[in-house]
Amino acid sequence: MKLVTSVDDVSELTRSWREKGQKVVLVPTMGWFHEGHLSLMRMARKIGTRVIVSLFVNPIQFGPKEDLAAYPRDLERDRHLAEKEAVDVLFAPAVSDMFGQNFQTRVSLSLLSQGLCGSNRPGHFDGVATIVSKLFHISHPNCAVFGQKDLQQLAVIRQMVRDLNFDVEIVGHPIVRERDGLAMSSRNSYLTGDDRKNALCLYTAIIRCQKMVGNSRGKISITELISEAGRIIDSFPGCIAEYIQVVDRQSLKECQELDQNSVLALAVKVGGKVRLIDNAVLMDQ
Ligand code: PAJ
Repeated sequence: MKLVTSVDDVSELTRSWREKGQKVVLVPTMGWFHEGHLSLMRMARKIGTRVIVSLFVNPIQFGPKEDLAAYPRDLERDRHLAEKEAVDVLFAPAVSDMFGQNFQTRVSLSLLSQGLCGSNRPGHFDGVATIVSKLFHISHPNCAVFGQKDLQQLAVIRQMVRDLNFDVEIVGHPIVRERDGLAMSSRNSYLTGDDRKNALCLYTAIIRCQKMVGNSRGKISITELISEAGRIIDSFPGCIAEYIQVVDRQSLKECQELDQNSVLALAVKVGGKVRLIDNAVLMDQ
């Protein structure tokens, strides 16, 4: 595996792969790899001839009060993990190489970036859409893999690709969970002691709502589901729900009635500081 830090070098290399007709698959990440990231890399390995993983803690998707400085980083550790997944290139550029002094462009989505996480993280999805556009231009992928854990992010990227005619196929990967159900996240490393146990409030609410939907054969009201999820989250010490919504997994619009595409989407602050998200379809597929 090659570690490449220069934008020009990775651009040249990936262009030469494409010229030879190789299928290039990109996995964009911010590093501190866990099994979720590694599983995306394995999927990319199956799909493509060449796998490129980008590792870039993107400053423009963090709000001023968010955890940019504290975000966990360890290039050597990540390099080792990516190497084991037979990744061809780990692309880890410096901020100065990605954003020159006079950088001023944003890719902005008017609707999908609002609501859910967008309500509490203004500018976040513009930051994501901008960096992912840059990564697509730089690394010439045929295909890019994203996790379904970041439901809104995946919807934003799919929409951006349609709107801006990117010739990149977007593949969604199912959520990878810890044994007890907690969705894997780089931010789980902030969870210590009781907070780790209480972080299970999200998965507990998901399982309970799926059961209620199953038992009622989909006839249960959405209001009832949301209030039950709220009750469960409140029952875990120090857990405060930021949002609890049932939305369509593509449009992210609030569902009026349940169907196969209805997703329970949750964001919860655990222990007053660690913000976790999770989601799941409610009906058996
Ligand atoms: P990051 O949080 O590092 O996640 C990188 C990719 O891994 C994303 O597509 C995310 O959805 C996926 N992922 C994270 N946890 C997962 C899990 N438990 N199961 C499945 N997939 C999971 O998301 C970002 O970085 C950034 O916003 C990025 C797209 C790289 C743009 O900066």
